[in-house]
Amino acid sequence: MEKLAIDGGVPVRETKLSYGRQYIDDADIQAVADVLKSDFLTCGPKITELEHKLCKLTGAKYATIVSNGTAALHIACMAAGVGSGDEVITTPITFAASANCALYCGAKPVFADINEKTYNIDPKQVEKLATDKTKAVVAVDFTGQAVELDALTALCREKKIVLIEDAAHAIGTRYKDRMIGSIADMTTFSFHPVKTITGGEGGAVLTNSEEYYKKLLLFRSHGITKDEQDYKRNQEGPWYHEQIALGMNYRITDIQAALIISQLDKLEMFSKRRKEIVKQYDAAFRAMPEITVQQEIPESDTTRHLYILRIKPECLNIGRKGFFEAMAAENIGCNVHYIPVYRHPYYEALGYQKGLCPKAEKLYEEIMTLPLYYAMTDKDVADVIKAVEKIIAAYRK
Ligand SMILES: Cc1ncc(COP(=O)(O)O)c(C=O)c1O
Repeated sequence: MEKLAIDGGVPVRETKLSYGRQYIDDADIQAVADVLKSDFLTCGPKITELEHKLCKLTGAKYATIVSNGTAALHIACMAAGVGSGDEVITTPITFAASANCALYCGAKPVFADINEKTYNIDPKQVEKLATDKTKAVVAVDFTGQAVELDALTALCREKKIVLIEDAAHAIGTRYKDRMIGSIADMTTFSFHPVKTITGGEGGAVLTNSEEYYKKLLLFRSHGITKDEQDYKRNQEGPWYHEQIALGMNYRITDIQAALIISQLDKLEMFSKRRKEIVKQYDAAFRAMPEITVQQEIPESDTTRHLYILRIKPECLNIGRKGFFEAMAAENIGCNVHYIPVYRHPYYEALGYQKGLCPKAEKLYEEIMTLPLYYAMTDKDVADVIKAVEKIIAAYRK
């Protein structure tokens, strides 16, 4: 048996492989440089150009781009009318922002457990938790896989709940041949550098509703309107504008918008490569009885943002922490997505307790995120698989 690097053996590779990385080419650099030489660094033509491009890509009627995915979730909740006394149902297996957006609005996040096979929110759990107080569901396409949109839309429609799809992981994913972005009442994206498409930072809210769209525009920029139709008073002159709501400054720059536009031209290429890597991982790990492979619903044609390795602790003499450390010693950078949101001290102080979502808590104990990004070579992928094999061989029960 090969000696593990953590025990003084030779690592599977000499250099560290990170778990995620952006891919920037000359066209991206040129697009950014062009904006820097132009008249507008913000509030310029790249904003509408990107919004049109996102609508064309997803089939949504309206897009509002913002400074990041968290801002997108916040104004989506505001547009949905989430407020004090309301409840917002979300998954615990997500980044904190998916629940924080409810807190920003004075509402209470309610956590629905996951489906143990797909790791996405379980619509049956959502149904059990929906009450008269439920204003919105924030459903997260975890790892890029679409949530069960048919079940969730039907449920939300019946109970008059606004469905916000947090698609921070899912740009490029299709649900039943429809691009993610036009199906839920509102869909949010993130353009953080580990995501499939990046602007450095950036986010978007997509919707088919003109009513939500008008609110999103207002909340993005201080609650100020320059649309005469919305004015409460008579115009006082050509400079006139009115603040008619309390909004934020969640605007994004033209510099970032130009980068996102240029990146979107590569979405298909990024998507194809990510799918190839996932296929290689899945094939290798399906052959290992010590590993559970994430299941996909047939409706989701997924552009995977994250690849989750789930170990079966009952088959191994090592837990997730030890496995993670052994991977790091082999020079394979991993991460963990996610600590169930309500297990964070901030949420515990709000009264959330361990045991709330047992399936999510079990998942958290057994997972780590493997490297997955466009520029990974087949050799990189093989190194990751080799490291997993090596560690399993050393700790197999
Ligand atoms: C599921 C999910 N929602 C929301 C966000 C927030 O996006 P951003 O980092 O762009 O604010 C993230 C970011 O990691 C995320 O993974």
